[in-house]
Amino acid sequence: MNSFKSVKGMQDILPPDVHIWQRVEAAAREIFSTFGFQEIRTPVLEYTGIFTRSIGDTSDIVEKEMYTFEDKGERSVTMRPEGTASVVRSYVQHNLSHSLVPPQKFFYIGPMFRYERPQKGRLRQFHQIGVEAFGVHEPEMDAEVIAMLMRFLESLELGGLSLEINSIGCPDCRPSFREALVEFFRPRAGELCPDCVRRLEQNPLRVLDCKVPRCREVRQGAPKVSGSLCERCVSHYDGLKGSLDRLSIGFKETPEMVRGLDYYTRTTFEVTTTELGAQNAVAAGGRYDRLVSEFGGPDTPAFGFALGMERIVTLISESTSVEASRPDAYIASIGKEASAEALALAVSLRRNGLWVEHGYGASSLKSQMRKADKFRARYAVIIGEDELRDGVFSWKDMDGEASGRLDAKGIMDMLGNTSDG
Ligand code: HAM
Repeated sequence: MNSFKSVKGMQDILPPDVHIWQRVEAAAREIFSTFGFQEIRTPVLEYTGIFTRSIGDTSDIVEKEMYTFEDKGERSVTMRPEGTASVVRSYVQHNLSHSLVPPQKFFYIGPMFRYERPQKGRLRQFHQIGVEAFGVHEPEMDAEVIAMLMRFLESLELGGLSLEINSIGCPDCRPSFREALVEFFRPRAGELCPDCVRRLEQNPLRVLDCKVPRCREVRQGAPKVSGSLCERCVSHYDGLKGSLDRLSIGFKETPEMVRGLDYYTRTTFEVTTTELGAQNAVAAGGRYDRLVSEFGGPDTPAFGFALGMERIVTLISESTSVEASRPDAYIASIGKEASAEALALAVSLRRNGLWVEHGYGASSLKSQMRKADKFRARYAVIIGEDELRDGVFSWKDMDGEASGRLDAKGIMDMLGNTSDG
């Protein structure tokens, strides 16, 4: 038995799937750039405090899911479980609030690590496409970023999606909500899981997010955050809803959605799908107006989201048959001299951006043509003794009946006209 296997919950992305990943990444780059978002690349490893201080000590991520270890210099480091904290760290460290024109808008694409129980749509190494926008208090920014996400998902022709929004208030109004929650849960503490009993003291909002079925039942009837919002939070939330309406983006209000990360203020949102089973969140995010200053930067509002690439790729591969790309030509050759000619022709066609495969060594023409078929090449080009003598190449359209002979330039023109690369 082969004992060399990938780590549990971490998977290879193999060539038949990679083109779907590339398509998703290309769509993100194209659409996000029209909204003025620029790519940022931060390290996969950060000092642990970056995550504990932002995501929150009592969050599931920090309590149970981080890949944390000591490096050889005995510093505690963590494989990033998400991207927001790293981008904020970078934003503050490089003083980007001054050096880039506001609002500063970033996107990132890359692997994240969480020690969760692996299942369909939930991995230990997974990939996010995330965006973070800094410097705008107005709810128009929330709506604009959500509009960008919806435009992106639409461009991938994904169906069955719904947008859920909520406001979880700000440091002015959250304390009264906390109190209301503690008042509600304290008499019911005996029915909560041990984690929630502890959370009730440290961070009662977390009880609303617990996945234990018993806790879900107990929280039926718990106070809703909407009842505690201050005037400014209500006005922000109304502004967001108005902007979404204006952009014709449908949404559902979900007052119990608090999200599993501590840094949010005001808006939180999720896009879910009916087509993925339990792990139905495709993308999620919200506003985090305090994080930049908590990291030592200037008081700067911010808004962002991240989407799970594995989930998007699954949706695409389940909903459409994605055509794999195919070579423009396969060059078959008979004999040593022709084989050298095949390589030379392949190299010169490739210089023009064409994808060309060719046969090697002494395999028969029949077996080379079988290869051309397997590759699903558009054209076969054949070089034998006659072709060498006449200085031309025979070609055959592999999708139809046409065939003929052309010189190198003619082959180049023919392939160039039909290539989709
Ligand atoms: P999050 O809700 O923890 O938010 O993750 C965002 C998305 O990442 C989820 O909706 C899901 O699609 C995907 N995801 C999360 N965990 C896994 C996993 N174990 N396996 C596969 N996919 C997963 C954040 O990470 C925030 N940083 C989002 C944000 C950005 N908020 C503001 N800016």
